[in-house]
Amino acid sequence: MNKSEPKRYLVTSALPYANGPLHVGHIAGAYLPADIYVRYLRLMGKDVKYICGSDEHGAAITIRAKQEGISPKEVIDKYHEINKTSFEKIGMSFDIYHRTSEAIHHETASDFFTNLYNKGMFIEKVSEQYYDEGFNQFLADRYIKGTCPKCEHENAYGDQCENCGSSLSPTELINPVSTLSGNTPVLRTTKHWYLRMDEHQAEIKQWLEDVQATEKWKKHVLGQCRSWFQEGLLPRAMTRDLDWGIPVPLPDAEGKVLYVWMDAPIGYISATKALTDDWELYWKDEESKLVHFIGKDNIVFHCINFPMILKMHGDYILPTNVPANQFMNLEGDKMSTSRNHVVSVDGFLAEFEGMEDVLRYALTTNMPENKDSDFSWNDLQARNNSELLAILGNFVNRVLVLTHKYFEGVLPEIPSDDLETVHEKAEEVFAAMQAMPYELDAAIHRYEFRNGLAEVINLARAGNKFLTDTEPWKLIKQSEGQTAAILSICLNIIARLSVYMEPFLPFTAPKVKGFLNLSAEDEKAILAGSFNIAAGHKINKPSLLFSRIEDTQVAAQQQKLADAKAAREVAAANANETTGEAVIAPLKDTIQYDDFIKLDIRTATITAAEKMKKADKLLKLTVEVGFETRTVVSGIAEHFSPEEVVGQQVLLLANLAPRKLRGVESQGMILMAEENGKLVFVKPDNKMGDGMVIS
Ligand code: 2FM
Ligand code: ZN
Repeated sequence: MNKSEPKRYLVTSALPYANGPLHVGHIAGAYLPADIYVRYLRLMGKDVKYICGSDEHGAAITIRAKQEGISPKEVIDKYHEINKTSFEKIGMSFDIYHRTSEAIHHETASDFFTNLYNKGMFIEKVSEQYYDEGFNQFLADRYIKGTCPKCEHENAYGDQCENCGSSLSPTELINPVSTLSGNTPVLRTTKHWYLRMDEHQAEIKQWLEDVQATEKWKKHVLGQCRSWFQEGLLPRAMTRDLDWGIPVPLPDAEGKVLYVWMDAPIGYISATKALTDDWELYWKDEESKLVHFIGKDNIVFHCINFPMILKMHGDYILPTNVPANQFMNLEGDKMSTSRNHVVSVDGFLAEFEGMEDVLRYALTTNMPENKDSDFSWNDLQARNNSELLAILGNFVNRVLVLTHKYFEGVLPEIPSDDLETVHEKAEEVFAAMQAMPYELDAAIHRYEFRNGLAEVINLARAGNKFLTDTEPWKLIKQSEGQTAAILSICLNIIARLSVYMEPFLPFTAPKVKGFLNLSAEDEKAILAGSFNIAAGHKINKPSLLFSRIEDTQVAAQQQKLADAKAAREVAAANANETTGEAVIAPLKDTIQYDDFIKLDIRTATITAAEKMKKADKLLKLTVEVGFETRTVVSGIAEHFSPEEVVGQQVLLLANLAPRKLRGVESQGMILMAEENGKLVFVKPDNKMGDGMVIS
């Protein structure tokens, strides 16, 4: 069988943790591309199963439970339902949305572990791991935070630094802290089962090089995998000390569960089992094609770990491609639910009712296929107003309105010479109609969904141009036949659009098909390239497909993000005041060296101090500068008593122009450092002579 024509497809999207609501970045990363791919395959009549579900184990869940003060089970029940509904609302066409807490998954993952264990794929190793003595518990990677040894970011997790992207192990962290108690954890010995990834590196590397040679993989995916191989794979623990997860199926493993990244990908298999009795055809037949859609943070698990597990088990097919996307930012900053810098799926749909396809369109045109991209409200507005509405919606509406206006929605027989005259002017648009399905097909099979959508919208663009160029609203006065010929070409374009837009715009496509009264037979003919709108075909009256997004709506959304940012800054400042962590002020504008050397800063000693009358904040200081004595008025009275400051050696900006404060001339300025509102004198480490120059 031709390798490029699989008998069936098994498509998966990363199982999101059931620990929080989905945002549009998630959708653009691992879900929308897969949904477009799957919808397109179905359109082409392919046998395809699309698998997804909730990832319900691991510290991601237990940490959330602690934050919300509910049990892990309550967390997964809550967010499974929320996420399932959000996915439905935005049109994800999963064949199943499963759960890793289901018994069938526990059984499947457990059997996998046992199978690998019996084949000697694990080594047992006792090692020292961090333990929180207050909570009597070993700390999973995500329960430990500390300073990243690579970039010194202070909030790195035990398994990863989100600042520099390094993958870490908890013992590498500088100043580790338990996130449960805030205390420093201690090291204790514990036994775990490590997958022999080192021993199996060569075969998995070979598989990856072979498969990427037959089907082009994305550069950034391959790059990440090759760098893992280059560093050399190490045995990796597939078990954890945690009380939430799938128990390790061994007699001497009490209190231990499978590592969530061992169990979660197996979730794709158990979900397929739950979906169909034919699950083995999809997982074990060489003529099936397995494609995993994920975000870039999941690459190693889907391109190395899981394929290795499948290979070790035997019988299973391995993925043919893993077209991981990069990340989508929001208005130039990382999207984050916890920081409230986010556009959630539900939030969007609540404010922009009925605009599911607008969101899908904006996310697809901006999909982070090969590099990080940015979602902005201005872009969403422009995509809607200038593309969906002005190109697609306008074309469909103009053609249908004219068809009703001139022909009451039913095209007449067109005289052949009128047909010929119009066809001569339609070469360009015919070429676009013919090429689009091929270009679209090629783009989809290269996982280039932005390009695929552009092909569809470009056909609408070509149709619009044809309509504008041929001006049927003028021609109607001269030739009904030619006008009907123009509209029939346009209706044929719309018919094709209605079918091929479906993977991208599944909410709009049925509306357009409805306007055109297309039967199932018509749709088949469209896909076969043989459809031609017949004389007498009744066209329904259209309604508007898209509505304008106004500037005020965009401004309101931008304001929301700005408010959230301001709230974050206040919260951070408050937190810093209580924790004593310094708030770092923004850097001032750059100055030149010439500006700096104009400052004459000297060591000086305060010899006398008194409070100023009627000025709570001011102290009048007498300052010895070595070569003369100065009077300085300083705004430090709320921080220091006069007695505290007398005798202090300080630094004085000595050439600041004198100015009068409350009637007293101040002859210089004392340098202070401020930390969260607390003032400290800046001074030499050891007392030195007064009048010395600071440079
Ligand atoms: O990163 C995540 O959200 C994981 N829950 C993805 C798991 S994908 C698969 F392995 F289940
Ligand atoms: Zn780092």
